[in-house]
Amino acid sequence: MPPTFNAKARGASRILGTGRYVPERVLTNKDLEKIVDTSDEWITARTGMKRRHVVSEGEYTSDLAAAALKDAAEDAGLELSDLDAIIVATATSDMIFPSAACLVQQHLDLGGIAAFDIGAACSGFIYGTTMANSLIASGQFGTIGVIGAETLTRITNYEDRSTCVLFGDGAGAVICVPGNGKQGVMAAYLGADGNLSHLLNMPAGGTRLPASYETVDNRLHSIHMEGAEVFKSAVRAMESSAVKALELADITPEDVDLLITHQANIRIIKATASRVHIPPEKVYINVHEYGNTSAASIPIALDEARKGGLISEGTTVMMVAFGGGFTWGSLVVSF
Ligand code: UT7
Repeated sequence: MPPTFNAKARGASRILGTGRYVPERVLTNKDLEKIVDTSDEWITARTGMKRRHVVSEGEYTSDLAAAALKDAAEDAGLELSDLDAIIVATATSDMIFPSAACLVQQHLDLGGIAAFDIGAACSGFIYGTTMANSLIASGQFGTIGVIGAETLTRITNYEDRSTCVLFGDGAGAVICVPGNGKQGVMAAYLGADGNLSHLLNMPAGGTRLPASYETVDNRLHSIHMEGAEVFKSAVRAMESSAVKALELADITPEDVDLLITHQANIRIIKATASRVHIPPEKVYINVHEYGNTSAASIPIALDEARKGGLISEGTTVMMVAFGGGFTWGSLVVSF
């Protein structure tokens, strides 16, 4: 049985600030038409995507992550030196080790504080924020920066039309601080099923299949996905995660002011919202602008929604994610 959200963790932390950074370079559906056999019509109808932001030469995951964290600290009205720990959720760290979090710490000259990565693919931000909430609940840390950052276009095979139209790069961040009795994390739920790991992965580059001429020739250093299978699992897992979050927070769908799901496909987002009875006007969608940015998608959307005036004091936000692993999870946060 997955653990439920315990009383000590409820309201332990709140989100004081949010931030984001996306690369300037943009790849449109029309650009993709020149690379593979696809069309703007197909991509728009099947995914809702129109553009995605893409890193340039010399721009790495840790750069995006550091910029997003800086933006979040500024938004929170804190100095970066107020941070006690940095957690980066990513599947596209600059290198296998050290962690992206250590490189972010180096970029921002924050030597000494704890820094580590979370590997939960597209669900990483939900995992990371849940971890931050628990670490704050335990009393070990007071102020934690959680970042979702990805450069998926670096592991995308631009000869595979079934995946290359989907992914984009970017980073989003939050600053978690102790709750104040009103605002805070009202529920957190995490789950995974490693039996389905083969449906979405990057086969080579780890220690099972280290880089070789063969792995490179066979294009094994890029994302492999059984799209239709992932689609079905995503809708099911996001629906059950959302239901679980409502249960744990002891609220009804009507109490949710804004639903932010992982932005992988507009059809998945709409199906999830409809199954949990959240009306379209309460659903945040930006998949048309960024494509699927994996662990970065929820914090980018959260920051956009906050700075766009959709989240203010008293707003209840439900966040739901699904990704490779498979992993899934949900958070209810009162702002
Ligand atoms: O972030 C982690 C979670 N990831 C996801 O949640 C992604 C989940 N999966 C999806 O979003 C969808 O499955 C995709 C967008 C990847 C694919 O959409 P689909 O409706 O499931 O299409 P399909 O894979 O079943 O392919 C339908 C047709 C095929 O042609 P035939 O066999 O029917 O002739 C594909 O070859 O569409 C074709 N196709 C394309 N056509 C034009 C696949 N990719 C493309 C493309 N352009 N880019």
